[in-house]
Amino acid sequence: MEFGFPPTLKLANLPTPVERMRDVPELPDLPNVYVKRDDLTGSALSGNKVRKLEFAFAEAAEMDARTVVTCGGIQSNHARATAIAAARLGLRPVLVLRGAAPAESDGNVLLDRLAGAEIRFISPEEWPHVNEIMAEIAAGLGSAGEKAYVIPEGASYPPGVFGYIKAAQEIAAAEKELGIEFDTIVTAVGSGGTTAGLIYGKRIFGLKGNVLGINVLDTPEYFARRIAAISEAFIVKYENRYRGASWLKPILPGDVEIAGGYDGPAYAVPTEEGLGLIRTCARRLGLFLDPAYTGKAMLGLAGEAAKGRWRKSDNVLFIHTGGIFSLFPWRKELASSP
Ligand SMILES: Cc1ncc(COP(=O)(O)O)c(C=O)c1O
Repeated sequence: MEFGFPPTLKLANLPTPVERMRDVPELPDLPNVYVKRDDLTGSALSGNKVRKLEFAFAEAAEMDARTVVTCGGIQSNHARATAIAAARLGLRPVLVLRGAAPAESDGNVLLDRLAGAEIRFISPEEWPHVNEIMAEIAAGLGSAGEKAYVIPEGASYPPGVFGYIKAAQEIAAAEKELGIEFDTIVTAVGSGGTTAGLIYGKRIFGLKGNVLGINVLDTPEYFARRIAAISEAFIVKYENRYRGASWLKPILPGDVEIAGGYDGPAYAVPTEEGLGLIRTCARRLGLFLDPAYTGKAMLGLAGEAAKGRWRKSDNVLFIHTGGIFSLFPWRKELASSP
């Protein structure tokens, strides 16, 4: 089905493949699992954020921005993808990262630096004001004659939502090709934009499957509200463009399904079980999950299966949203345990 997307700049290798996951003896309860390989949207410029950035950078180009400012945790995949996309398009990346400057550049931070990002580290106490900090940086650059475009955390803002509306279009095409319909679509939830896009995409392309998020920090209730807020902002921005479209209704907190309890001790910190699952998927499938997002999402998929959420014959689509580079700061733990 055709859909009138806003303009994009091509950054991702799309469509990404959908692969049937082989049975894994350590995960006996799983239904039929398929994996949408959004870790293959690129190499260094890879993962779910690249889909969102195709729309974000198109807006930046429209306003003639020379600099792009964004934010995230120290090992933010979104910040890394933004830095690399900026370098690719000839823009200057400025990143505001939460935490002290690490003694060694590792994982995503190494790639940020290689892509020429200017990094400002802020304390966890300053983090609640990150939007003001980014606005100040952009205003400072603006008054020096350099237009800057600000992308909020995770690109989970209205233009970014289109990234996963487009992914839903690909999912509909994959269903046709495979001759199946997915019963559930599972994704990690970190800032909510991926889930918001999939929920709108389900409405637009008539997908049967429910979207099931696995929160990797905070609580399911927090993200249900946050996704509803993204939807509200989305409607304000695009109601003229899609006036009268039946899918353009608010996503209410009650429309968002999130399974909690898989987020581990803290954001980006995995449990021993989570590290074990990362090892198992690497060894059995050649599939590399990460400690902050996809490892926790797969733990959620396995945990929900063990609770009897699905029949063995159900078809579940797991979105592999990327994140491989944050494996490297966990090298000791991953190498030392069995
Ligand atoms: C690898 C990876 N997976 C999943 C997510 C979650 O996506 P979203 O922020 O759209 O909820 C993120 C970012 O937060 C991510 O970097």
